[in-house]
Parts: sequence; structure tokens; C-alpha cells
Amino acid sequence: MGRSDGAGSNQGRVIHGKRHRGCTTRRNGRLPILHDIAWATSVTALCWLRQSAQRKTVPWLPRPLSQIIAEAIVTMSVDILFRPFALKSLNLKNRIVMAPMTRSFSPGGVPTDDVAAYYRRRAENEVGLILSEGTVIDRPTSSNDPNVPRFHGEEALAGWKRVIDGVHAAGGAMAPQIWHMGVMAPHLSGWTPAQPFEGPSGLVVPGKPGGNGMSEQDIADTIAAFGRAAADAKRLGFDAVEIHGAHGYLIDQFFWAGVNKRTDAFGGSTLPERSRFAVEVVKAVRAAVGENFAVLLRLSQWKQQDFAVRLAKTPEEMEAWLAPLADAGVDIFHCSQRRFWQPEFEGSDLNFAGWAKKLTGKATITVGSVGLSGEFIAAFQGESSQPSPLDELLRRFERGDFDLVAVGRALLSDPQWVRKVREGRMETLRDFTKEALATLV
Ligand SMILES: Cc1cc2nc3c(=O)[nH]c(=O)nc-3n(C[C@H](O)[C@H](O)[C@H](O)COP(=O)(O)O)c2cc1C
Repeated sequence: MGRSDGAGSNQGRVIHGKRHRGCTTRRNGRLPILHDIAWATSVTALCWLRQSAQRKTVPWLPRPLSQIIAEAIVTMSVDILFRPFALKSLNLKNRIVMAPMTRSFSPGGVPTDDVAAYYRRRAENEVGLILSEGTVIDRPTSSNDPNVPRFHGEEALAGWKRVIDGVHAAGGAMAPQIWHMGVMAPHLSGWTPAQPFEGPSGLVVPGKPGGNGMSEQDIADTIAAFGRAAADAKRLGFDAVEIHGAHGYLIDQFFWAGVNKRTDAFGGSTLPERSRFAVEVVKAVRAAVGENFAVLLRLSQWKQQDFAVRLAKTPEEMEAWLAPLADAGVDIFHCSQRRFWQPEFEGSDLNFAGWAKKLTGKATITVGSVGLSGEFIAAFQGESSQPSPLDELLRRFERGDFDLVAVGRALLSDPQWVRKVREGRMETLRDFTKEALATLV
């Protein structure tokens, strides 16, 4: 298995920024050997120049020039993230995606002008694709927080229209992440919806009731509500739609045997049986948006209720899980890990996004502690994270493991993160601390 923790695991392996020492190496197996040698020689020379300049042992080399050289190495490395990407309705200027992040700044579920400006700032600063925070579908208990934006109702949709128009005016692309939370613990504020939460079997964690088990009518209505939300995404002018099927929320509750105890067509002892709900949601979304609108599905093995849960324990199980979802209409699997470098199965260093791409042939997004030293759950508990090297990400990207890279906290706290990375201004990247959650910068 790979590294167990982001903190410190990459130390000293990449060149850029004052925190990191040593020189990156870049091998491309497709290059002829002479090119390799020439490349390696020039990189070695550049690294020596940079290190010497850092130690101030090359008096004849002006420091600004040494910085230019160092940044040139970095730019060579990150360039591959700045290639365009096109798939159906998506035309992206680069491969960097803003991960969906709940902000709870939409009173009464209506995105405000501040929310629109927050997303627009990311578009102005070169984010390839912005995924909205989770935004809830038209079900009485789809949310546990009145400040989480709705994706239904005239007022909320008008708010979202202002969001997407602002993003487009700044040259960006965006998809809403449509969401039903399922059976949840009540919100910290104590707010609860008027009716009990709903889920496959009314369990909040295995063995613990927390709401209603859904009737077949509830299920049909929920599937239809996902379809309506997707149709609205297209009508408002969004570039794609993402279905939230991860992190222990409703769709994931159906996947998870621990809380899906149904004995009808939406339950069962196998993962493909418990995937029926997700498959129907994807089909409804696909039917609502047509063939040429990109549909993303976010999945995770882990659950917020239990990080150790793994739905698919072997590549065969993963294929049996993902193939019907791909057939139902998923274009891009967004494979949520807390640490992107962790291998999914023994015997290979491929991560979740790598396996999903290999098994389905579909495009994939990787995510999890990109550019930061610590992971996001610990961040909620107050652990701060420092900027960290991108070399391992670039190695996997260059190998073709995934198509897109989602960045969460680094972009939450710094709207200019993508621009800074492209320009090689690594020394200006910010730490992430919990305080960043309190404002929309
Ligand atoms: C404040 C916050 C809110 C989040 N809300 C969502 C969400 O609404 N939907 C979702 O799928 N993931 C959500 N996530 C998870 C992120 O999308 C992402 O997967 C996670 O932060 C790991 O990426 P990072 O290490 O780059 O931050 C949230 C994360 C944070 C930090």
C-alpha cells in the first residue's frame, strides 16, 4: 500500500517554492533515448543552477535569472495540466476542476450575489471547470441545512442563473452538483426539515434509525426530481451536470449494504443490485438532458459515517459496479478519495480514478489533497495544511491515469490557485486553515 498520510510524505521531492528542495525528474517513455538523455542533462544542469543560486554559490548568476530557470522547470512539469479538454457539451481550457464544496452561504437556499461573485472569481482566475457546491433537489427532506442552496424553485434557480452567467462572462465553465442528502444526523444548528429524513432503510449508520425508509413512490419521485434538476441545469445554460453519488449521502446509502437493507428491487446482497437506484437516477438525468450534454457522477468508496467502508473490494467488483452506471449514461466518473495517491487495490499503484478509467473507458477526475499536505476531514477538525508538491500528481496524469484533476480547499481559500500554478508562482500559494471556511473569498 502507499502512503497513509499526506503530511510529510512528499517532502523534498520537488523543486518549486521555498519549502521544497531537490529536483523533479520527468520521464516520458515515448521519447527516444537520445531525447531522454538530452532532457535529463538539461534538467540536471538547471537543477544545479537553481540549487547553487539558492545557496548563493554562483556569484555570476543574477538571482532573478535563477528564478526564471527554476520556474521554467516547473512550467514544463505543470504544462500538461493546461491542455484543453472537450467532451460533449464541455469545452475546458485546462484540466483543473474546482471540487464541489458546500459553503452554506445561501440563506433560504437561494444563492446570493456574493455566491455568484465567489464562483466568478474562480472563472476569472482560470479554473477549467467549476463544480458547484452540492445543491439539493426538489424533495421535502433533501437537505439538512437551510443555507445550502436549492436547485429548485424560481428564486433559487434565478440565483443560479446569475451564477452561471457570471462564470460564462469570465470565460469559465460550470456544472451544478445535484444532491439529496438522504438520512442525516441533524445539522449542528439544530435545524431539521419538517418531515423525517428519507433513505433506503431509514438508517443513519448501520443499526441506527434516523429517518424513514423510502416507499417505491418516494423512490420514483426522487428519481424524477433528479431528472428535473438536470433539465434545469441545461436550461439555465450550465455546461454539464454532476450527480452526487458519494460520501454516504442518499445515492451512496443505496450502494452501502450497511444502511441499505431493502429486500425489493432497490436492495440486495450484491453491489450491482444496490446500484439500481443510482442507475435509474443516471438514466433519468440522461433522458432529461439528451445525448450531448455531459453527465458526471461523483462516487467514493469511503463514507463520512465510516471511512473504512469499501464498496468494491476487487477490480472485478468495481467493474460490476461501474459498468451499468456507464451504460446508463455517465460520461465522467468523479472518483473521490481523501488522498489521491492511495492505491485502490493490492498489486497496482492505480488510484480510484485510474481504475475507473481502465475498467470503463470513461473519462475520470481524481481528487484528494492535491497541492496540500493534509486531507480535508482533518481540516474540518482544525488541522492546517501547507502547499505541497505536484510531482506525484503529474506523474500519474502524464501516465494517462485520469483526465481531470479536482482541487478543493486550495481553491476555496485562494481563487488564484490555478493562475499561480500555471505561472509557477509556487512561493505565493497559501496554507489552508479552518478559518477559510468562514468567508467567501
Ligand atoms: C468545506 C468543504 C465542503 C465540501 N462539500 C462537498 C460537497 O458539497 N459535495 C462533495 O461532493 N464534496 C464536498 N467536499 C469534498 C471536496 O469536494 C473534496 O473532495 C475534498 O475537499 C478533497 O479535496 P481537497 O483535498 O483538494 O480539499 C467538501 C469539502 C470541503 C472542504
